Amino acid sequence: MGDPLARGTLLSFFLLITTLGKMADGHDHGDSHIPEGQTVSLEPLDTTLWIHIFINMFAYGVIFPIGMVLGITKSRWHVPTQVLGSALALLGFFLGHAHGGREFVSHNIHSVFANILQLLLIGQVVLGLYLKGHWEKGVNGKIRKLIRPCHSIIGKAMPLLSWAQMIFGGITALGFCQGEHVGQCAAHFIMGGAFIAYGVILTIILLVGQIWIQRTGRSQEFFDSAVIAAWGCVNTFTEHRWGTAWVKNDWQHTTMGIIWWCAGLAGMWLSRDRDGNPKRNFIPGFVILVTGWAMSAHPQELMVSAMTHSTFGKTLMAAGLSRIIEIAFVLKDKQSLSESGRSWNSFQYIPVFLLYAAGFLFMGATEEQMNLVAQSSMDGVSYILIMYSLAFLVFLFTNMLVHLYDRLANPDLNTKDLSNGHSRASGHAAEEGQLRDAEQFELDGLMSDDEGGEGQAMLRGSLDRPSIDTPSTLGKNNHGRV
Ligand code: HEM
Ligand code: HEM
Repeated sequence: MGDPLARGTLLSFFLLITTLGKMADGHDHGDSHIPEGQTVSLEPLDTTLWIHIFINMFAYGVIFPIGMVLGITKSRWHVPTQVLGSALALLGFFLGHAHGGREFVSHNIHSVFANILQLLLIGQVVLGLYLKGHWEKGVNGKIRKLIRPCHSIIGKAMPLLSWAQMIFGGITALGFCQGEHVGQCAAHFIMGGAFIAYGVILTIILLVGQIWIQRTGRSQEFFDSAVIAAWGCVNTFTEHRWGTAWVKNDWQHTTMGIIWWCAGLAGMWLSRDRDGNPKRNFIPGFVILVTGWAMSAHPQELMVSAMTHSTFGKTLMAAGLSRIIEIAFVLKDKQSLSESGRSWNSFQYIPVFLLYAAGFLFMGATEEQMNLVAQSSMDGVSYILIMYSLAFLVFLFTNMLVHLYDRLANPDLNTKDLSNGHSRASGHAAEEGQLRDAEQFELDGLMSDDEGGEGQAMLRGSLDRPSIDTPSTLGKNNHGRV
C-alpha cells in the first residue's frame, strides 16, 4: 500500500470523517421555537433547505441511479458520473446542516438516517477508488475479490436507501409521522413502496427479463405467488397480537394475511401444467384485485380522504384485472409474445403502470397528508392528478434506466423499427465509446418478423448469442417431458 493514490485516499477519508463528525456535533437543533406539542416550528422552509432538497434529490435520485447502471455495465462513464454525484451530495450535506428557517425536532429520523447514508457513501467512494486502482496481483488481488462484491451490493442498495431518505426528508420537513402516527405512516409507506417496487420489477422483466424468466424454467406466477404466500404468512401472525382482544382493524389486516397465503399457495400449485411445464395463472393478479377492494374499504371521515382511498382502490383493482387480461388474453398464457423475448404489446404496460400509480396514491393517503390537503385550497381531484403525475415520472425514469442498461449490456442486439413499415437494422446501437467491444456488427444477418404488426420488430440476428434465439418450451405445453 505504498501507493500515493492509496495513501491520498486514506488521508482524505479520515479528513472527511473528522469533518463530518465535527459538523454533526457542531450545531444544535434547539427546540425553542417549536410550539408545545408540535414537531416543527411555524416558519417556512428557508431557501438553503429548498436548495438542499433539490440538490440531494437530483444527486441521489437521478445521478447515482444512472451511475449505478453505468457501473453494472462497466461503462467508462461510471466513475465520472459518481464523482459528480458525490460532489453534489457533499454540497447537499453542507446545505442540510446550514439551514435556518423552520426548525425540526432534534434526532429526527431524516438526520439520523442521513449519517448512515453519508457513511455508506464515503465507504462506497473509498472502495470505488480502490477498485479504480486496478491492483490485481498478490494480496491486492485477494482484497479486490472481497471489495468488489461489497461495492456492488452497497451500490445497488443505494437507490433503495436514498428512496427511504427522501421520504424521511418529506415527513421531517412537514413534521409528520411522529408519535402516534408512526404505525400508520409505516404501513402506508411500506405497502405503497411495495406496490411501486413490484411495478419496477415488472418493468425490468417486461423490458429485459423475459428470456431470463424463461430460463428459470418456472412461470412468473410461481415467483409472484411464493412472495405473496410468504408475506401473507408474516401478516397473519404479526397484525394481531394473538391471545389478546381483537381491536380496530385487526380483523381486516389478519384476514388479508390469511387470503394472501391461501391464494399464494394455490398460485404456486397452478404454475405448472399437467406435464410439469411452467404455466401462467390468474392468482397474483386476482390477489392484487382483492387487496385493492379490501384496502380501500376503510371508512374515511374527510371528503378528500374518501376520494383518494377510493381512487387508490380502483387503481389497484384495475392493475389486478388488467394483469389477468394480459396473461390470459394478450399473452394467451405464454411468457412472451415472441420467442426472442424482445417484444411486448402496449397493453402489457397497463398493469405495470397502474401499480406505480396505486403505490403513490397509497403513500399519499395518510391521515396527516389528507388533513393538509383538506385544509389547503387544493381539491381531491387535483391531489390525485399530482400523485398520478409522480407515478408517471418514476415510471418514465425506470424505463429510461432499464433502456440505458439494455443498450449498454446488449449493444450488438440493437435494432430499430422504422415507422414506414420496413424494419431496418441500425448500427448506431450505443453511443460511441461505450461499447465494451467496439466492434459494430453490420447486422446483415438480421431478419425481420413483421407479421404481428406493431411491436413485432423482432430482428433476430444470427449473432453469436444463440441463447437469445433458443426457443423456449413455455406455452408449448406438450413439448417438455413426454
Ligand atoms: C466516486 C467514486 C467511485 C468510484 C471510483 C467507483 C469505481 C468503480 C469501479 C472501478 C467499478 C468496476 C469494478 C470492477 O468491475 O472491477 C465499479 C463498479 C460499480 N460501482 Fe462504483 N465507483 C464509485 C462510486 C459508486 C457509487 C456512489 C455507486 C452507487 C450509487 C457505485 C456503484 C457501482 C456498481 C453497482 C458497480 C457494479 C459492480 C458489479 O456488480 O460488478 N459506485 N465502481
Ligand atoms: C437522499 C437525499 C438526502 C440526503 C442524503 C439528505 C441529507 C440530509 C442531511 C445530512 C441533513 C442534515 C441533518 C442534520 O441536521 O443533522 C439534512 C437535513 C434536512 N433535510 Fe435532507 N437529505 C436528503 C433529501 C431530502 C429531501 C428530499 C427532503 C425534503 C423533502 C429533505 C429535508 C431535510 C430537512 C427538512 C432537513 C432539516 C432537518 C433538521 O434540521 O433536523 N432532505 N438532510
